[in-house]
Amino acid sequence: MPAIILVGAQWGDEGKGRVADWLAGRVGLVARWGGGDNAGHTVMLGARSFKLHLIPSGIVRPGVRNLMGGGMVVNVLRLLEEIDGLAAVGVDVSPGRLALAETAHIVTPAHLALDGAREHGLAQDGQQIGTTKRGIGPAYTGKARRSGLRAGEMRAPEAFGDAVKRAVAQDNHTLTAIYGAPPVDADQAAAAYTEAARRLKPYLVDAVRCIDEAFAAGEMVLCEGAQGTLLDLDHGHYPYVTSSTTTAGGALTGLGFGPRHVSHVVGVAKAFSTRVGEGPFPTELSGPLADRLRGTGENPWDEYGTTTGRPRRCGWLDAPVLQYAARVNGLTDLALTKLDVLSGLDAVKIAAGYTFDGAPVRDLPTDAAVLARCAPVYETLPGWSADIGDVRIFEDLPRAAQDYVRRVEELAGVPVWMIGVGPERDQVIIRYPLLERRTVARDWPAVGWTWAKPTSHTTPARRWNRCPGGSSPSRRASRSPCLN
Ligand code: IMP
Repeated sequence: MPAIILVGAQWGDEGKGRVADWLAGRVGLVARWGGGDNAGHTVMLGARSFKLHLIPSGIVRPGVRNLMGGGMVVNVLRLLEEIDGLAAVGVDVSPGRLALAETAHIVTPAHLALDGAREHGLAQDGQQIGTTKRGIGPAYTGKARRSGLRAGEMRAPEAFGDAVKRAVAQDNHTLTAIYGAPPVDADQAAAAYTEAARRLKPYLVDAVRCIDEAFAAGEMVLCEGAQGTLLDLDHGHYPYVTSSTTTAGGALTGLGFGPRHVSHVVGVAKAFSTRVGEGPFPTELSGPLADRLRGTGENPWDEYGTTTGRPRRCGWLDAPVLQYAARVNGLTDLALTKLDVLSGLDAVKIAAGYTFDGAPVRDLPTDAAVLARCAPVYETLPGWSADIGDVRIFEDLPRAAQDYVRRVEELAGVPVWMIGVGPERDQVIIRYPLLERRTVARDWPAVGWTWAKPTSHTTPARRWNRCPGGSSPSRRASRSPCLN
């Protein structure tokens, strides 16, 4: 049976948790492949909302197994808090239902301190990334430096505690000498992590075998992405990214299986755009409209970070972002969440492209400095006033809402399979049966770029490929990126 990869198509917080929850009811195993507790998924079940940071969304579906994959970085104390929190409300979090890859890396208290200290230092020059301060960057740095601790070491709790003590002591040099920050108590960390290892030992598995066995047993595997395409370490707007692979390829490397198993790559996009942290955001709004999209914070679905509580930056939907996500991930289908939030607006806008120094830009620039200088070119569509929370059939949506969705799929070049019309589990419109349609090759027209026309003197090959300006970011920023 195949694997479905679920990715965020924007800057994270697209509502992947609720799409994962829907799909989880149809699979045997849900596996997260990257990131750590910087992620936050809210799953609504009636009046109860579950905030998950490390544990995959399938945990709230009885009978579904859940795996935290080898590409993740795990703060074991936070994991235990999450396990205990779920157990307290009656969710089965026993080792039979939840597993941790022995190859996942460990986030130590020193990683958290380093993350905070580095951000503090960068902020002095206005250069901060706006991280979640969960130690994600330092943990992946340790992994790449080949000095990290892996979850499998918890099989020997005392030796693991000693290793934590040594790792923290090592990082304390950097904390004190480079950042002038107070050191972390290495003995205290060692004691807490030894105790955590004793409890987490039964959860450790060989994740590659675990997934292989699921495939062999004919189970469908849902690979649950965290964050979003534009926060990908390689393909996002570096350095305003996270430190992991958030795009579809990360599912294969982070979990350890081959591409032949993949049947669908579903991108989740909000019907508008949001972003937390620093970095370019061309369609960002301010004032009453941004406040209207963000909500007051009273509801769990309002636009405030699940992990940090920070208000999210809000803006109109950005088509070049979706086109880029479609390309980078090989999206086969889109889930469009929170369409209901746009109800009641007189008009809705979508950025169909950008201009850079007045010239039209065809593709999303991959350089943050270039994107920061791009201005969106909007299409304005009529709004709709009706409450759509009870609509379950696409054709029952107000005409303007249908047109909006059709325009999104036209611009993205990917069909919209699911539409979210409210926060509850059943408040979705399913437009076609996803799982019966095994998608291997692309069966949807290529990205439709209808706005910018090529100039007569430029050959198609040059229009497509050329990105003038050389390799220096500042030089590139002062010229036109990949223009028509
Ligand atoms: P880090 O992952 O904590 O290092 O943060 C790096 C960037 O990714 C910051 O801009 C964060 O706000 C952003 N980020 C990390 N995790 C999430 C998430 O789950 N949703 C949205 N943004 C995130």
